[in-house]
Amino acid sequence: MKFFIDTANIGEIKEAKSLGMVDGVTTNPSLIAREKKSFEAVVKEILKVIDGPVSLEVMSLDADGMFKEGKKLMQLGDQVVIKVPMTMDGLKATRRFAAEGIPVNQTLIFSPLQALMAAKAGAAYASPFVGRLDDIAHDGMALVEQILTIYDQYGYDTEVIVASVRHPGHVLEAAMMGADIATIPFKVIQQLAQHPLTDRGVDTFLADWKKVPKK
Ligand code: E4P
Repeated sequence: MKFFIDTANIGEIKEAKSLGMVDGVTTNPSLIAREKKSFEAVVKEILKVIDGPVSLEVMSLDADGMFKEGKKLMQLGDQVVIKVPMTMDGLKATRRFAAEGIPVNQTLIFSPLQALMAAKAGAAYASPFVGRLDDIAHDGMALVEQILTIYDQYGYDTEVIVASVRHPGHVLEAAMMGADIATIPFKVIQQLAQHPLTDRGVDTFLADWKKVPKK
């Protein structure tokens, strides 16, 4: 499974990259806003260190505006993926981008039929938001399972990005289900590496090593 990092923070991206845990990056307007820098400044830094797909979201609500914005974003780098919301206009824009071979990440997907439409429109990626569904007492990972079944059944190439990941359990389930990608906040990447028995084991080995005679 590919690991994307869900952040616009360059420090987090570099740290995750040094672990070999970054196959791509997803950003959104809220993540960009946290950085307190201009959109251009944030994106420039990210594109300098990442070769894999970097999703940048369009802010227009109409298909023409999305298309124009997306074309501009594409000029920033070859690795740019246009993030387009799952709306009627978003689908129109996706279809136009796909016709030109421009990869789209259809975002804010909350139902299997939205995901089916994104694939039919030609999106390269579909992003179901599992955490936000869990937040309203729905089952986010059940949605991922439904999407994977549908895509598999009809042989769609659209890759499923498990998004709005909140904890390691989401990543585990995504991997067990065979999701193509999970886009993971840095904090959760750290949690994936940690285990109390690993820490206890390291402490025990260190303590015992001190008991080994030096000569
Ligand atoms: C995905 O591409 C989004 O950036 C992200 O996963 C949203 O997650 P949130 O629900 O934690 O804001």
